Amino acid sequence: MITLDLALVGFGHVGRRFVRLLDERAEQLRREHSVECRVIGICTRRHGTARNLAGLDARAAASLVEEGGSLSAIDAPDSMPGRLAAVPPDGPTFIRDLATAAHARQHGRMVVVETTVLDITAGQPAIAHVKTALESDAHVVTANKGPAAFAYQELDLLARGAGRGFYFEGAVMDGIPIFNLVRETLPAVKLTGFRGVVNSTTNYIISAMEDGREFDEALAEMQAAGIAEADPSLDVDGWDAAAKTAALANVLLGARLTPQDVDRTGLADWSGARIREVAAAGRRVKLVARARREGATVSAVVGAEELDAADLLATLREQQNALVLETDVLGDVAIVQLGGGLTQTAYALLSDLVALRRTLPFA
Ligand SMILES: NC(=O)c1ccc[n+]([C@@H]2O[C@H](COP(=O)([O-])OP(=O)(O)OC[C@H]3O[C@@H](n4cnc5c(N)ncnc54)[C@H](OP(=O)(O)O)[C@@H]3O)[C@@H](O)[C@H]2O)c1
Repeated sequence: MITLDLALVGFGHVGRRFVRLLDERAEQLRREHSVECRVIGICTRRHGTARNLAGLDARAAASLVEEGGSLSAIDAPDSMPGRLAAVPPDGPTFIRDLATAAHARQHGRMVVVETTVLDITAGQPAIAHVKTALESDAHVVTANKGPAAFAYQELDLLARGAGRGFYFEGAVMDGIPIFNLVRETLPAVKLTGFRGVVNSTTNYIISAMEDGREFDEALAEMQAAGIAEADPSLDVDGWDAAAKTAALANVLLGARLTPQDVDRTGLADWSGARIREVAAAGRRVKLVARARREGATVSAVVGAEELDAADLLATLREQQNALVLETDVLGDVAIVQLGGGLTQTAYALLSDLVALRRTLPFA
């Protein structure tokens, strides 16, 4: 049995669902994977910071934040040996201080769980959090697209050099395995490209408009469910899909793209009337993400397309997503997500922890 010390950076919809899922699955994780997880720190932007090397009650912390309270009410800095900032630290300082204290007790078992908001201009502060964690000898699991979409090659190199894990399954299609599936189960297969529907919010809005409903009403439902990005224009203008496309291209096709390199258009030109006209003609509108490797170059595009109704991507309704991997040995391999949401994203973080645990020696 080993114990992983978790430092949560970001404690919003995903972070809070994650700690509850971790609690619900604790017994199974112990029994089947010989791993226990202890949350030793939580860092947010406006809801304070809490640290306790002996372990925090993370469910209570989630309720506290949901009731509008501050995590400083449960902060226990005296549990930390040595130097500690009295003022609430920023993300990188929080990670460095906690890593120093956690390593003093058991080295190489701290994991930074990064779930801050996506910044589409540069992938920060998530990249700084991931970098600081790896430089502090901590492993990283994240649901944030920023690190893989803006800095995958650099962070992967850093993680390998440090002998630390860097996992990001939740960055694309919630908990449905893509990155871990390719790494674990497709050895010696060359990927030449992919196409997919990877943004739930826009697919939900398109489905609603096909059914005669209003754009604003459908978007509000996705916001209420915690599925839409904090800034919903990131979904509607195709930025979220572009970030996922860049992340997929960087990891699966060895590219060095950023979301700004993806040729992107969103739903701005697609009124409900136009979407229904296409459907009446037996075709379907979808926001499609594509990337392809040609020689040394990888090109990527995100935009609304009119698809034949029989196309797998055209059959996806509401929050459903799918990714078709184009491979040299197996031909096209499709991964379909029929149900997505917060629990699935939280599960991606949990599955990353198990993937990490498998690389660690039995204690
Ligand atoms: N929601 C989904 O279904 C979903 C699916 C897949 C991937 N994701 C990704 O998962 C991540 C989290 O999503 P979410 O829905 O949980 O977002 P959220 O509810 O907006 O929560 C974001 C959290 O990050 C904290 N934060 C922001 N900036 C910070 C900083 N500089 N330092 C420390 N903490 C900071 C916020 O603190 P305050 O609340 O105090 O401001 C909040 O706790 C995003 O990157 C998103 O793209 C989400």
